[in-house]
Amino acid sequence: MESKDKSLEALYRRRVSRSWSHRLRRLIQPPVPFVMNPAEPRNFPLGRWNLYIGGAGRMVEGYVNLDLYALPGVDVAADAEQLPFPSNIFLRVECDAVLEHVRDPVKVMDEIYRVLAPGGYAHIVAPFCHPFHEYPRDYRRFTPDGIKELANRMEVVAEGWRTGPTATVLVMVLEYVKLLLPFRAWRVMAHGVVGWLLFPFRYLDLLLFRTKAAGRIGNHCYVWLRKSGAPPESEAE
Ligand SMILES: C[S@@+](CC[C@H](N)C(=O)[O-])C[C@H]1O[C@@H](n2cnc3c(N)ncnc32)[C@H](O)[C@@H]1O
Repeated sequence: MESKDKSLEALYRRRVSRSWSHRLRRLIQPPVPFVMNPAEPRNFPLGRWNLYIGGAGRMVEGYVNLDLYALPGVDVAADAEQLPFPSNIFLRVECDAVLEHVRDPVKVMDEIYRVLAPGGYAHIVAPFCHPFHEYPRDYRRFTPDGIKELANRMEVVAEGWRTGPTATVLVMVLEYVKLLLPFRAWRVMAHGVVGWLLFPFRYLDLLLFRTKAAGRIGNHCYVWLRKSGAPPESEAE
């Protein structure tokens, strides 16, 4: 295993670790520098089987959690380019902040299309203006139009910006400040201090989401896609 993979696994383990030092660290961490767009729809149906791609380091209830790494909370360790499932079985597939990390996003979207049940929904979220972050690689950025180009035969049912221009500015400032500091301990400290000072600005995005231009420097975008056909009878309420 590469050292990059090892440090990523260690990061995921710290996120769910119950040790006192990790709990304390999580407690004093600043709030995230973004707010989610309240207009992003979330109420598309879940089925008996749903797939969450890329959920290492978290528990995702109601989904089969698939990731490259076999960590606590991950149900299936596999590559999203070759999903180890039969076709047409998931009513919902979540692929949130994963496409930028895969070698071949066309293959991944083909696989999502294949495993989605007829009438099922895929929720794709990807960064547009966001710092380089390797999980375990970082290959590219997306716009809503770019995601739609990969949509296969699926119908686009919703699209927009998940996190906005202020999120972009805040994450970039945080990264920039860290670039100026030579020691890891200083960077950790700066992340905490600057993070707490800047986070109140995140609420400006609640205003900016209403403007058409928000996407010019939007942070993450989303697209909801639907596979044609009627859901299987087993999914009927
Ligand atoms: C930025 S994280 C996603 C974060 C997650 N959606 C969340 O909100 O917490 C990207 C995840 O995708 C996983 N990943 C990267 N490439 C993958 C691939 N080819 N197949 C499956 N999972 C992959 C990484 O291990 C990582 O857990």
